[in-house]
Amino acid sequence: MLRRLHKDQPASFAFTPANLAWAKGQISKYPEGRQASAIIPLLWRAQEQEGWLSRPAIEHVADMLGMAYIRALEVATFYFMFQLQPVGSVAHIQICGTTSCMICGAEDLIAVCKELIAKTPHTLSVDGKFSWEEVECLGACSNAPMAQIGKDYYEDLTADGLRKLVARFSGGEVPRPGPQNGRFASEPLSGPTSLTVAAADRNPHNASVQLAVDIGDTVKRIDGTEVPLTMPWLGKGGGADLG
Ligand code: FES
Repeated sequence: MLRRLHKDQPASFAFTPANLAWAKGQISKYPEGRQASAIIPLLWRAQEQEGWLSRPAIEHVADMLGMAYIRALEVATFYFMFQLQPVGSVAHIQICGTTSCMICGAEDLIAVCKELIAKTPHTLSVDGKFSWEEVECLGACSNAPMAQIGKDYYEDLTADGLRKLVARFSGGEVPRPGPQNGRFASEPLSGPTSLTVAAADRNPHNASVQLAVDIGDTVKRIDGTEVPLTMPWLGKGGGADLG
């Protein structure tokens, strides 16, 4: 697929103060002369803030890192993780269309996206809440067909299940990521044949679902004042939360 900058661009981009402080912290991790190594986290944070990467955002990050614009554009246009056009205000849905998912029903999921969101990918729904695209294998083939919605994986999907997910997102909910057919992880549908642990003796969610639930930023915009999961002793805004 051709990856190019969107035809309509905002006039400017700026990180929120908290995101700017975070970005400077990332840059400081690298030795003098190697600041360009922070390109991926800074572009990602710009996208977390705005939902997509505009040309001003890419150039702003390039300026912060002392890089030629073309070098930052090369990174932003190469990786599918970066959205180069506006995305839905609630969620951008990436349907895996590679072999396992295609065999198991990806075309049905794409048909749902065309019906509920827009006939063509990278197009906002009428209410502006959603957008979608087909992507290459996302590495969850044993839970095909699947979709990445925001930052998390929704697996073992059916057309009807995807419809229900979209409706719940539209209503302001963030449905639990992971397998949607009752599987814990990627064990056989008939149940595990080894490493058997009674459901009562294990966490209710597999590790990646638990992390998604704990972080809670599946489709959230990040302004930088969130309390990092790894530093819960810091309150919102970065100060010690002793309350
Ligand atoms: S083929 Fe869809 S996740 Fe690999």
